[in-house]
Amino acid sequence: MCGIVGCILKEKKDAAPVLFECIQNLEYRGYDSIGLATYDNRINVKKGKGDIKKVNREQNFKNMSGSYGIAHTRWASTGKPTPENAHPHLDDTNTVAVVHNGTLENHSEIRDELIKEGHEFISTTDTEVIPHMIKKFMDEGLNLEDAVRKCGEKIEGSYAIVAMSKDEPGKLVATRKDSPLIVAFGKEGYFVASDTPAVLDYARDVIRPKEGEIAILTKEGIEIHDENGKEIKKVPQHIDWSPEMAKKEGFDHFMIKEITEQSAAVKNTLGQRANIEKIIKSIGDVKRICFVACGTSYHASITGKYLIESLAGIACDVVIASEFKYTAKTWDEDTLVIFISQSGETFDSRMALKEARKTSKTLAIVNVAGSAMTEEAEYFIQTQAGPEIGVAATKTYLAQLTAIYLFAALMAKDEKLIRELYKVPKYIDEVVNERESIKEISKRYDFAKNAFYLGRGFSYPIALEGALKLKEITYIHAEGYAAGELKHGPLALIDEKVPVIVVIPPGDDYSKTMVNLEEVKARGAIILSVCAKGDKKTAENSKEVIEINAEVGDIIAPLVYAVPLQLISYYVTCDKGYNPDKPRNLAKVITV
Ligand code: G6P
Repeated sequence: MCGIVGCILKEKKDAAPVLFECIQNLEYRGYDSIGLATYDNRINVKKGKGDIKKVNREQNFKNMSGSYGIAHTRWASTGKPTPENAHPHLDDTNTVAVVHNGTLENHSEIRDELIKEGHEFISTTDTEVIPHMIKKFMDEGLNLEDAVRKCGEKIEGSYAIVAMSKDEPGKLVATRKDSPLIVAFGKEGYFVASDTPAVLDYARDVIRPKEGEIAILTKEGIEIHDENGKEIKKVPQHIDWSPEMAKKEGFDHFMIKEITEQSAAVKNTLGQRANIEKIIKSIGDVKRICFVACGTSYHASITGKYLIESLAGIACDVVIASEFKYTAKTWDEDTLVIFISQSGETFDSRMALKEARKTSKTLAIVNVAGSAMTEEAEYFIQTQAGPEIGVAATKTYLAQLTAIYLFAALMAKDEKLIRELYKVPKYIDEVVNERESIKEISKRYDFAKNAFYLGRGFSYPIALEGALKLKEITYIHAEGYAAGELKHGPLALIDEKVPVIVVIPPGDDYSKTMVNLEEVKARGAIILSVCAKGDKKTAENSKEVIEINAEVGDIIAPLVYAVPLQLISYYVTCDKGYNPDKPRNLAKVITV
C-alpha cells in the first residue's frame, strides 16, 4: 500500500544511505517502484520501476548528496507501475517534492483545474496534483506548513504525505488522513514514516500524529501542530521491538523466520491473560458478538465464532470488513463488535469500526502498537507477535488466534481450555522442528494447478487459511471447503491430478471428515492428510500424511494444524522459484 519515509540528519552528513535503509524496511507495503529525493541546494531525485535492489543497481541511490530527504516504495493503485509514476513527485518547476501513501478521490477534478491554470503533468498518478498544489499555494504567499495544510483541505480520500520545498530548505512537512504515519526521534536525526519497522535501526521513540495534524521536521527536532498551527506537546511512545526483530537473521526469507517464531508469538500473547480478563469485566454483558476482519484475520475470526458460540453460548457473526454495511444495521448497544487486524490500519476494517462505534461496544485485537485501530476502538488487545514483514500472515495469525482463544475461554471460564493453551507452543515447535520432512513432501505437490483443502468444525477455518496461504504465494489455485460441503458442487472438479489436503484431527468431527476423505479418495484425488500421530485409518486412506502430536484435539487444532499448511505453501513457493515474502500484486497493509 506504499511506504513513505522522510529523514533529517542533525549533522551535515548524506541522508540517502539512511533513507535507503529505512525504505527497504517498508518493502512489505509494496514494491512496484521506488524513489528518493534529497536536498543539496537543489532537489535531487532518483526513481525507477522495480524493487529496491533492482532500481538501486541501476541508479545507486546511496551516492545522492544532502542531509535530508524523502523516499517511497510503491504499490500501484492509481496509475500503472511505470518509472514516471514512481514517487517522489514534483511540481513542474522542481521546487516541491512529495511522497504519498493513500488514494485521492478528487484528483481528476483538481488536475483539470491545474492544467487550465497552465500546470504540466508527467505521470498518471493521483499524487502528482499534491506538489503542484503546494507550489501554487506557496506562490500565493503561504509557507510550506500552511500550503500542506491547505492542500489537505482540498484533497479527498486517504493520504499520508511528506513534502519538501527548495523555497524552505531544511524542513520536511508531513500530514495524514486515513493512512498511517509516525514520526520518530533518533540519536542521529528525526524521521517520519508509514510504520515503525522503517526506522527501528535509528529511532524508537515514536509519535503517531492524528488526522489533520501537521508534523514539522527540522534538524533541531519535530513539532506537531494542530489545524490552527498551534504546537501540541506529545510524549513519544518507546517501541521496544528491536531492529533485529525486523531482520531476516540468517533465514532465507522473513516468512520462514516468522513461522519459526510462532511458538514465541503464542507464548507472549498468552501473557495478555490479565489484561483480557480486565477487558471482559469492563465490557460487561453482551447479547451478541460480531467479528469483522479481512484476509487471514477473517479466518481467525471464524475460529472465534465457533469458540464463542460453543463455549460461551453467545450468538456470534463473522463479517468480511468490506461487506459490513448490511450487518451494521443490526448492531446495537448489546452487541460487541470485535475487529481482528494484524496491522490495525486496514481501511475496510477501520471504516466498519467507525460505523460500529456509533451503536456498539468495540474491541480491536491488533498486533501493531499505536496503530489507528488501537486508538479508534473502545477496547484493545495487543497480540505479541512482534513485527511481521512477510506479506503472508503467519505468526500474527497464531497470535490473533491465541488472543481469541483466551478471550473466549475466559468469557466461558473454561480453565481446562486455558491450561491446554499453555501447551500449544510446545506442539507448534514439534511441527516446526519437522520442517525438513515437510519440505520433502512439498516437492511432490509443486506440479498442481488446483488444490482443495478440507476441514470440518474447528478445522474448517484451518482449511480456508491453508488454501489462502497456497494461492497467495505459490499462485496455485486453491479452495478451502467445509468438508461436508464438497459434495454439493466442487466434487465434480476432483480427479487424479488434484491434491486434496484434509485436516483431520481427533475429536467429534473425525468420523464425518473420514467419510468425506473417502469420497474424494473414490474420485482418485491425491490425498495429503494432516492428522494425529498414529492415526492408522487416515494414513491408510491417504497418499501421505503429516503427523501432529496426538494430544492436540480438534478444539485447539487451529493453533497447531495451521503450521504444516504454512510450511507447505512456503516450500512449494521456494521450489517454484518465487519469493514468498513478496507475492505479486499483494501488499501487507491495505490502506485503500
Ligand atoms: C492484506 C494482507 C493479509 C492480511 C489482510 C488483512 O491482504 O496481505 O495478509 O490478512 O491484509 O490485514 P490486517 O492487517 O487487517 O490483518
